[in-house]
Amino acid sequence: MRIDILTLFPGMFSGPFSDSILKRAVEKGLVEIHLHNIRDYSLDKHKRVDDYPFGGGAGMVMMIEPVHRAIEALKSQRNYDLVIYTSPDGERFNQKLANRFSTFNNILILCGHYKGVDERIREHLIDMEISIGDYVLTGGELAAAVIADAVVRLVPGVLNDETSALSDSFQDNLLSPPVYTRPADYKGWKVPDILLTGHEAKIKEWRYEQALERTRQRRPELLQGSSEGEN
Ligand code: ADE
Repeated sequence: MRIDILTLFPGMFSGPFSDSILKRAVEKGLVEIHLHNIRDYSLDKHKRVDDYPFGGGAGMVMMIEPVHRAIEALKSQRNYDLVIYTSPDGERFNQKLANRFSTFNNILILCGHYKGVDERIREHLIDMEISIGDYVLTGGELAAAVIADAVVRLVPGVLNDETSALSDSFQDNLLSPPVYTRPADYKGWKVPDILLTGHEAKIKEWRYEQALERTRQRRPELLQGSSEGEN
C-alpha cells in the first residue's frame, strides 16, 4: 500500500511516522508513505499557496492551482483508489472506513489549512471528505496522520500478531474487554480469578461478556447498530 499526503506542513508528520509500528511497516516495505509539500507546486514567484476569500471575510483560502498541479502530477504516475480531503465537514472516520481503505493500493490525502480550500478543489478533485471528529483542528495534518495510522496497522504483516487487529475494539461492534498482566495481585488489587484458571473456553466467554457489558455501559449505540456506531 502507498499513501501520498499533500500538505503545507510536512514536518508535522515526522513524529507519528518516525516511530514504532508505522516506521517498522515502512522499513519492512509493507507500506510507503510519501509527503509532498503543496508549496513546491506553486507557480507564483513567492510560492504563494493561499489568498483572501472572494466576497471578503476572515481567514485565507488555499488556492486551487498548486493543489491541482500537485494532484495531477501524482495521478500521472499511478492510479489512486481514493483521493481524500481532511475536513471537519467530512464523513466521520471510523473502523469500517479504516477496514475499507486498508484494502486499497494507493490513497492520496489532501490536508486542508487556513480557512479551508477553494470549493472547486472539493467539487472537482476530491473523492471523499473525511472528518476525524466533531472538533476543529488547526489543519488536516493530524487527521491525515490518524487515518494513515488506523489504516496502515490493518495491512497484513504490519502487526506482529495478526489476530490482534481482528480483536480490536469496534471490529465486531464491541469495545475490547479488559486485559491484565503480572503481577496477579498488586497491593491487593487482584486480577479476575477466571483469567488465572487456564480454562480457554471459559476465558473466551468471560471476555465476550465483559466486552458486551463495557459496550452497553459506554457506547450503547454500537449495539443498536445505529449509523453512529455502525462499522
Ligand atoms: N481539519 C480540521 N479539523 C478537522 C477534523 N476534525 N477532521 C479532519 N480534518 C480536520
